[in-house]
Amino acid sequence: MIPDKAPKEDVFHGSEDLRRNAHVPSFEKYKELYVQSVENPAEFWGAIAKDFFWKSQHTGRFLDYNFDVTKGEIFVKCMEGATTNICYNLLDLNVHERKLGDKVAFFWEGNEPGDELTVTYRELLQMVCQFSNVLKSQGVKKGDRVSIYMPMVVELVVAMLACVRIGAVHSIVFAGFSAESLCERIMDSQCSLLITADGFYRGEKLINLKLLADEALQKCRDKGFLIQTCIVLKHLSTDPEALVSSHSPPAKRACPDLEVPWNPDVDLCWHMLMKGASDECEPEWCESEDPLFILYTSGSTGKPKGVLHTVSGYMLYTATTFKLVFDHQPDDIYWCTADIGWITGHSYITYGPLANGATSVLFEGLPTYPDVSRMWDIVDKYHVTKFYTAPTAIRLLMKFGNEPVQKYKRKSLKVLGTVGEPINPEAWLWYYSVVGEKRCPVVDTFWQTETGGHVLTPLPAATPLKPGSATFPFFGVVPAILNESGEELEGPSEGYLVFKQPWPGVMRTVYGNHQRFETTYFKKFPGYYVTGDGCSRDKDGYYWITGRIDDMLNVSGHLLSTAEVESALVEHKAVAEAAAVGRPHPVKGESLYCFVTLKDGLAFNQTLEAELKKQVREKIGAIATPDYIQNAPGLPKTRSGKIMRRVLRKIACNEKDLGDISTLADASVVDQLFQNRCCSAV
Ligand code: PRX
Repeated sequence: MIPDKAPKEDVFHGSEDLRRNAHVPSFEKYKELYVQSVENPAEFWGAIAKDFFWKSQHTGRFLDYNFDVTKGEIFVKCMEGATTNICYNLLDLNVHERKLGDKVAFFWEGNEPGDELTVTYRELLQMVCQFSNVLKSQGVKKGDRVSIYMPMVVELVVAMLACVRIGAVHSIVFAGFSAESLCERIMDSQCSLLITADGFYRGEKLINLKLLADEALQKCRDKGFLIQTCIVLKHLSTDPEALVSSHSPPAKRACPDLEVPWNPDVDLCWHMLMKGASDECEPEWCESEDPLFILYTSGSTGKPKGVLHTVSGYMLYTATTFKLVFDHQPDDIYWCTADIGWITGHSYITYGPLANGATSVLFEGLPTYPDVSRMWDIVDKYHVTKFYTAPTAIRLLMKFGNEPVQKYKRKSLKVLGTVGEPINPEAWLWYYSVVGEKRCPVVDTFWQTETGGHVLTPLPAATPLKPGSATFPFFGVVPAILNESGEELEGPSEGYLVFKQPWPGVMRTVYGNHQRFETTYFKKFPGYYVTGDGCSRDKDGYYWITGRIDDMLNVSGHLLSTAEVESALVEHKAVAEAAAVGRPHPVKGESLYCFVTLKDGLAFNQTLEAELKKQVREKIGAIATPDYIQNAPGLPKTRSGKIMRRVLRKIACNEKDLGDISTLADASVVDQLFQNRCCSAV
């Protein structure tokens, strides 16, 4: 499956310098380890597990599973019977055993240049222990779910690790999501407590997060679900009382006028609680397969899925992928620009880097604020060696040319990474040549919320790179490409990307709905985990992700379900029916193009268009705001009433070649839709 010899032509290699000390220094070594990882996972992962602390050893098989729905319930178990605590492994072990107490865990860089903070491993451990005690004092116990809705501040990491320390299950909701989305997630996971902040700035824009959190809690109450406690971090506050105990410096953009609604029956001030809390807290020893966290991801039915990850497998997998994919070395300064509210931030800001005792930059701001050089300014400021971002950010910055990049030295950079969506070769080559000055390999990492960590990815010193290809599987991962009939295709081919066996970090279930887990990922092709992505394999065995093949869109690296957007649109009183499709976009990858059929007698106008955009933003969040809304007096449907999205996608792109449309019930709607196309989209 992996070629015997790596190709020599049309490929890019890591530098000689990088190869010298790399954990996996050559393609031959990668192959050797890969074969071992797949043929004998217990031995491969067992050796890695020795670097971690186990309160008690595992008793069952190292990796036990069933991936075949026809043979019974789907399950994956890794190191069953072992007990450990991830927070202990990430912090106590680094401080006490590895003597990294004084090492910087995070350089926090605020939205405003100059707003900064340094946190060592020892300080982080202290804060986490204190906040663990705070949570306990609020009655949070092992297994309880805690919702976290916070900006990119050190306290977000503290909150998540405090949950982990006491065995509670965190459910982080990206701070860009709406009150409605937060309410839905709180209720689905039946959280007992919410942790949030007063507000934050995204560039120039002030977000009053507490208002949104309050709105969400009110919506929960209206639906009969009561959250008793909300802990509020005063991030923007200039309130001296709050700042006495805060580790955050007063933000440069502190906002004295920010109105923070306060409900004394529910709200508690983070800082006041921390003041009295002890900085010693014995970790709760958890079983390998105890739940670690829930993270919601879009589902094709419109209702988000609570992806559940468990303790030991996720720890081993994120630690190992981080170490090898970024070839982590002790003196590295690593920076992942993702938000912790997404899986990339969970796995590659918090868990993977801290498990390796890494020093990371934690960035609150935007790549374009105060100007489009911000990223490279930060790279030089902290001497970043390993840099991980999204193709959409690369494409955005590319538009501004080379000068904003070349103003900065970037000499420290060694490895560049991308994640979240397919990267077009042009953007890859710009990233490689201009940002990395042809010195730094680009690791295009393919993975999902569900996979926990990288599954198809180059290793920077070992894998010859092809721009736009995620190359080969990580250790323990066995990909295959299937055709529509579920047959495995050999050699160069294109079809459904599936995985044949589990790796330690794969999700275990959809929270509260195991049947949905089985149906979504295992039913279409029994015996395989189905990613939902299309993929091709070239003559050299390289994998190329071609994008989603279900009703999902990838806008700026964020998955959205068309059903979710459509249901937000039809909730508007003027809308009878809606259909959302993706339209290629030069920066965002895909943009959201929606068709709406209005109720009888209603006219489409700009006011309605603005209302509809606002409606989607309020229901889901700003990331889901439609780029285009088109009036569609009729939608192209089959005789059985199914909307032909394939046709709508072509209309959105103004592509006249529609292929076979003989199954359309009324072909005349198509001409009408072409005529009505949104002018700005033409
Ligand atoms: O379609 C693939 C795309 O993002 C999806 C997963 O989205 P999410 O669960 O939000 O996680 C994103 C961060 C891991 C995948 O099914 N995707 C992710 N990485 C890549 C990618 N598509 C192509 N190349 C990638 N490197």
